[in-house]
Amino acid sequence: MSEVTIPLAGVIGHPVGHSRSPRLHRHWLARHGIAGDYVPLHVVEPDLQQVLRALPRMGFVGVNITIPHKVAVMEYADQISDRAILIGAANTITFRSDGRIIADNTDGYGFLANLREGAPGWQPGAGPAALLGAGGAARAVIEALLDAGVPEIFIANRTRTKADVLRQDFGARLRVIDWVQAGNMIEDAALVINTTSLGMTGQAELRIPLDGLHPGQVVTDLVYTPLRTRLLIEAEAAGCTTVDGLGMLLHQAVPAFERWFGKRPDVDAALRAAVMG
Ligand code: ATR
Repeated sequence: MSEVTIPLAGVIGHPVGHSRSPRLHRHWLARHGIAGDYVPLHVVEPDLQQVLRALPRMGFVGVNITIPHKVAVMEYADQISDRAILIGAANTITFRSDGRIIADNTDGYGFLANLREGAPGWQPGAGPAALLGAGGAARAVIEALLDAGVPEIFIANRTRTKADVLRQDFGARLRVIDWVQAGNMIEDAALVINTTSLGMTGQAELRIPLDGLHPGQVVTDLVYTPLRTRLLIEAEAAGCTTVDGLGMLLHQAVPAFERWFGKRPDVDAALRAAVMG
């Protein structure tokens, strides 16, 4: 007698207990009446390849990848999307029915979808974007902004050499600015994005001068704990349109869920409430 298989997905990382992805995907599974599950998987680097090969044999249709495996996982994929190659990291793995491992990065998609939802008036051609930070998240944001047609991206990072590497990788539409000049940089931008961990609960505050913020600008923070960071509070007070970072997390999961479970899920207030718990 053949048994109906239950589609499983999960998130691989360590630490992984803090991840909000299980709540997110379980909300959608329940909403769509799919008898599947989504679980946190604590996996260390030496086991990563073996785990990836074993998962499809026990009913897994895909997994998200989080810290610290987003770069390493690329080595173990059989096929990698162009955008994951450009970003240099993958956050979404899909197992094909023949067991082949497909790697993609949906962080940039999530960033843009969130921005378009939160600031529908924003046009990519409106002017330069000013980016704080040069880590993994910054790479996904840069790829998405260049793809959308943003004319120029100013980038400031505490460690300037990391911003210089981004300019080498992504080209002449990037301009590296000294971290001490970050306050001036944001004054001239149509869009301001914090991709650093500054302002996150438990981390240091983002202390760059914010008096250059003015009406007409769109300001977004990838930090979503707290939802309203100092950057967003000050930007709102200065008359800017602000977009919080939670939506990026929600939207990056949409293409993954659709690929794995065959339904395109909605990002709505009920999902936000489920994820923030
Ligand atoms: P993610 O994948 O979330 O981007 P990451 O790759 O560790 O994480 O990058 C963290 C970013 O936050 C970096 O741009 C980092 O700056 P450095 O490259 O100089 O380390 C930035 N960051 C973290 N703590 C910071 C601090 N105290 N001051 C300034 N920038 C900081």
